[in-house]
Amino acid sequence: MSFDTIIRNGTVVTASDTFRCDVGIRNGRITAMADTLDDALEIIDASGLYVMPGGIDSHVHLAQPSGDGIVMADDFASGTLSAAFGGNTTVMPFCLQEKGSTLREALKAYHAKAEGECFVDISFHIIVTDLTGRVLGQEPPALVADGYTSIKVFMTYENLRLRDDEILSTLDSARTSGALVMVHCENEDAIRFLIGRHEANGELAPKYHATSRPVAAEREATHRALSLAEIVDTSIVIVHVSNREAMEEIQRARARGGKVAGETCPQYLMLTANDLDATELEGAKFVCSPPPRDEKSQIACWEGLQNGTFDLFPSDHCPFRYDDDQGKLNEKGKRNFRWIPNGIPGVETRLPILFSEGVGKGRIDLNRFVALSSTNHAKLYGLYPRKGTIAIGSDADIALWDPMKSVVISNDILHHGADYTPYEGLEVTGWPVRVIVRGKTVTDGDALVATKGLGNYLARTRSTSF
Ligand code: URP
Ligand code: ZN
Ligand code: ZN
Repeated sequence: MSFDTIIRNGTVVTASDTFRCDVGIRNGRITAMADTLDDALEIIDASGLYVMPGGIDSHVHLAQPSGDGIVMADDFASGTLSAAFGGNTTVMPFCLQEKGSTLREALKAYHAKAEGECFVDISFHIIVTDLTGRVLGQEPPALVADGYTSIKVFMTYENLRLRDDEILSTLDSARTSGALVMVHCENEDAIRFLIGRHEANGELAPKYHATSRPVAAEREATHRALSLAEIVDTSIVIVHVSNREAMEEIQRARARGGKVAGETCPQYLMLTANDLDATELEGAKFVCSPPPRDEKSQIACWEGLQNGTFDLFPSDHCPFRYDDDQGKLNEKGKRNFRWIPNGIPGVETRLPILFSEGVGKGRIDLNRFVALSSTNHAKLYGLYPRKGTIAIGSDADIALWDPMKSVVISNDILHHGADYTPYEGLEVTGWPVRVIVRGKTVTDGDALVATKGLGNYLARTRSTSF
């Protein structure tokens, strides 16, 4: 047999082209693309379907400690299962450095959590929280050589944030080692001041999460992060941008010659601060940071996806159960928004939302969909062209999409560990009906046809985007 699998009669879509051809797969890689291919153990009929690179979700949180008594709703098994059903073949979760640990120790702990558990391929970004010891002096060059080529730093969250001098040191070290630094931009001191004011006024409901983290706190921090990167002349990724003002900071930095990538996420297209003002405590379901803003911000984020300000559209999947004392409605969270864990689920709904609201409603074309959902993630984070495209020699990571299939999103049909979806009742048209990881079918319609452990850990090269 020439091939293990042939995908026949589909329309192949990459970030640059759309064309009819068969795809031949052997030993987990794409080995032929032609009008007609024959001679395989398995023939998949993709008539009427798009044959797209599997989604790469480069911003997800799985099994990450999130405060006393709080447990994330997804571990590596449920999170990667949910990712697969959402059309993804690779996810990039965060590995959190606990204070007092080295980065190597953190990685060892996360590898142990993920080992043998994954349904899709994974690769870690390292969250740096403690710069004491060898963390910046000696660890990054060796880590980059071993394929750990990205770092995230926080400007907010009391226990995670770095001071400006620490961010500068991290950026400067990254310039030397070749790591790419992702920054969560919100001004922690301003937020703490506003939380204190809300508490003094007895304003404790979930909706005050949004007002305690205003656009100005995000805009200011975005400007500062970009300025710090400019000062040490290094590249930077501004993650989860929620509004026009922060987006314009990216545009201005680029106009000055800055090497900047930007991302926005489904919640900033589909939700607003009004969702946090739902009856009773339901608003807790939508608590994430930065918070969803307003309709004008949604329009701005679509513009950013269209005009290239945003290169990436990841989910920032950060799931907590709602009705659970280890989740959103923990004892303290029920009484005060400050203690509601930040983050919402979305790894399974990211791509159907972008397809339906973006391609289906004429806001972006199919090729831009592929760029935003897969190719740009692979390029930015050192996985291209092994991942993120359909080409001879690339891994056979493929999602077959039925552009006509309409689905009403409901938590019942999702595979994550959360007990809700922020998008309950949203009707989408376009759905990933089969997902193939390195030539092996993982999901086929509603059926799971692989066992966990199929997903591999991916070492990465340095970014090829700048
Ligand atoms: O609210 C959010 N986004 N939680 C996840 C952690 C982060 O900041 O990315
Ligand atoms: Zn963040
Ligand atoms: Zn995040």
